[in-house]
Amino acid sequence: MGKDVIIACDFASAQDVYAFLDRFGERRPFVKIGMELFYAEGPEIVRQLKARGHKIFLDVKCHDIPNTIKKTMRVLSRLDVDITNVHAAGTSRMMEAALEGLTREDGTRPLLIAVTMLTSTDQEIMEEDILIKRPLSEVVMSYAVTAKYSGLDGVVCSPPEAAAVHDVCGEEFLTVTPGVRFAESAAGDQKRIMTPAAAKEAGSDYIVVGRPITEADDPVAAYERCVREFVG
Ligand code: C5P
Repeated sequence: MGKDVIIACDFASAQDVYAFLDRFGERRPFVKIGMELFYAEGPEIVRQLKARGHKIFLDVKCHDIPNTIKKTMRVLSRLDVDITNVHAAGTSRMMEAALEGLTREDGTRPLLIAVTMLTSTDQEIMEEDILIKRPLSEVVMSYAVTAKYSGLDGVVCSPPEAAAVHDVCGEEFLTVTPGVRFAESAAGDQKRIMTPAAAKEAGSDYIVVGRPITEADDPVAAYERCVREFVG
């Protein structure tokens, strides 16, 4: 997989996501299905979007005891998604169990990445709400190293952290980065943000972009701008 822009399709129904994607004509952007859409429409939305020719990142951010995660991943492995994820905070035992469950009998599996620290969390929130009193960048790096040694393919982190993750975990270890904003647009609830061009400089492999595209007056133009700035 090369560098690409993944559109976060944070919609509440299949109808809304089809209406949105129809605007792209023959183009088939890489899409992210998150909890809102997956809980609303179930696995069928994955099958339908795959049948339309989209690559899919199924962003379900699983976090539970290892046994439950293994069984959950076994069920998800039946879906033909390209990337899925768990929270690194679930521990190395949980991530190893996730990989075991995700791997199909023929040895194939979707890429599995770990969420490090959500891009809506900053140092202050992390210290006050989750009582982690260490520098946030250090926490992200520690989660990334644990994910790598648990056998995962990469992490979700913020664009400013991508270069350091590559330095420590290697160039092949994927960095998938939400928290992307155009220079002139509102951050919303995101805290650790960068523009698509800066994310490219920082070495992100994939940027995940939601509202700057889905809420744009012209989503196709906004998507194309992301591709121009990020992929070149
Ligand atoms: O609208 P926006 O561009 O902020 O959307 C970012 C998307 O990436 C959302 O779907 C959000 O759930 C997801 N995400 C994130 N931070 C993470 C992991 C996923 O913002 N660490």
